[in-house]
Amino acid sequence: MNIDITGFSDAYKVRRLEKADISDIYSLCSKNVLYYKYCPPFVTEQSIINDMKALPPGKEANDKYYVGYYDADKLIAVMDLIMACPDEHTAFIGFFMTDVSVQNKGIGSKIIEELCSYLTGIGLSGVRLGWVRGNPQAAYFWKKNHFSELGLSYNTQNYTVMIAQRDL
Ligand SMILES: CC(C)(COP(=O)(O)OP(=O)(O)OC[C@H]1O[C@@H](n2cnc3c(N)ncnc32)[C@H](O)[C@@H]1OP(=O)(O)O)[C@@H](O)C(=O)NCCC(=O)NCCS
Repeated sequence: MNIDITGFSDAYKVRRLEKADISDIYSLCSKNVLYYKYCPPFVTEQSIINDMKALPPGKEANDKYYVGYYDADKLIAVMDLIMACPDEHTAFIGFFMTDVSVQNKGIGSKIIEELCSYLTGIGLSGVRLGWVRGNPQAAYFWKKNHFSELGLSYNTQNYTVMIAQRDL
């Protein structure tokens, strides 16, 4: 599948994030204290390096898009998108976070809306993701953006992840 990440958004510039971006990513992530309360451990530069390479079982690096959204030169959001996961018609959002300075202004919803529109355009039929059970901000945000719980979940040592999907 031919993916053009610049098509993920009209409102913001989207590009792949690299090692040189780690301090900007850390700065964005480390202010989202609530997220790490529900999804420990707290972010470190090393955990970002690990996330940049992390893949679900059976997936390969060429299906992974670890991208930043920029408003001019400012990194305002980070997304980890895995194509064809868990099946060829579905994309999986492994991580999505906006900078606290731009939160609660509709920007996160705009980014997800634009992404869903792009994915619809290339023929996908769903977007899947998980949120940590009990995180009020994440659950509210994804439900507001038309994701519905599938009744599936899995446990890690520290928390339970609820799986949800938006049909396109
Ligand atoms: C979730 C997140 C991406 C939303 O980004 P955003 O740019 O603020 O998104 P929007 O402004 O479009 O929507 C945010 C909504 O959440 C609501 N919200 C914010 N904090 C909340 C909280 N603690 N509890 C419940 N709802 C909350 C806002 O009121 C807003 O809803 P409204 O428009 O109906 O008032 C952002 O808060 C974030 O990065 N959080 C940390 C990471 C995270 O939880 N990511 C998702 C799970 S993987």
